[in-house]
Amino acid sequence: MTKLFPDAPSVGTAMKATQESEAARTFLALRRSANKASIGGPAPDPDTLDAILAAATRVPDHRRLSPWRFIVLEGDARKTFGEKAAEVHRQENSFASDEDLEATRALPMRAPCVVVLISSPKDDNKTPVWEQELSAGALGHNLLLAANAAGFAGCWLTEWISFSSGINQVLGLEKGERIAGYFYLGTATADPQERARPDPQSLISRWTG
Ligand SMILES: Cc1cc2nc3c(=O)[nH]c(=O)nc-3n(C[C@H](O)[C@H](O)[C@H](O)COP(=O)(O)O)c2cc1C
Repeated sequence: MTKLFPDAPSVGTAMKATQESEAARTFLALRRSANKASIGGPAPDPDTLDAILAAATRVPDHRRLSPWRFIVLEGDARKTFGEKAAEVHRQENSFASDEDLEATRALPMRAPCVVVLISSPKDDNKTPVWEQELSAGALGHNLLLAANAAGFAGCWLTEWISFSSGINQVLGLEKGERIAGYFYLGTATADPQERARPDPQSLISRWTG
């Protein structure tokens, strides 16, 4: 089988600072998340997922701290996670109805493969946590791009399960770690439509002193 992504060259290999590519320009200009309700199988198989995640880690990372990690939820583990998330939901919100708990159980079942991206800042007494969290954000987007380039649809969602100490405990997060989001990966069962985008000109100013 042809490799989906080239191996990382060994340290010190001469690299190109630019890789002019019309295909890459088109890919970036037209990228789109999948609709969270339209992600079915097949999912990337374990080797393919490993290759996608490896490619995704190729992001700016000040002082090479690798301030991120992944937790993969696949197969029955998604159901178990959904059950535990529903327990947390009940504990953290005594007003949660049976329907609310059922909706929580269904969250990880929306795609055959769910990657939880963990922001895991390191304390080197030099590198601000903010920089490290930005690197995690860059990794999140790269993950979507790598999945798309490998032929899989993806959607980055946070929802309440990214902001709950009970869920952090279920997933075994360490102190200082945060959930950057859940990446729902699989095959699109329906193609998305273009959505409204900001006018890029409204975002750009030129500082003139
Ligand atoms: C950190 C982060 C968290 C997000 N969380 C949610 C979410 O919880 N629910 C949601 O509907 N979209 C969420 N989104 C937005 C979607 O991932 C997606 O970007 C959006 O639907 C627009 O599609 P596009 O990526 O094709 O522009 C989040 C995006 C980011 C960057």
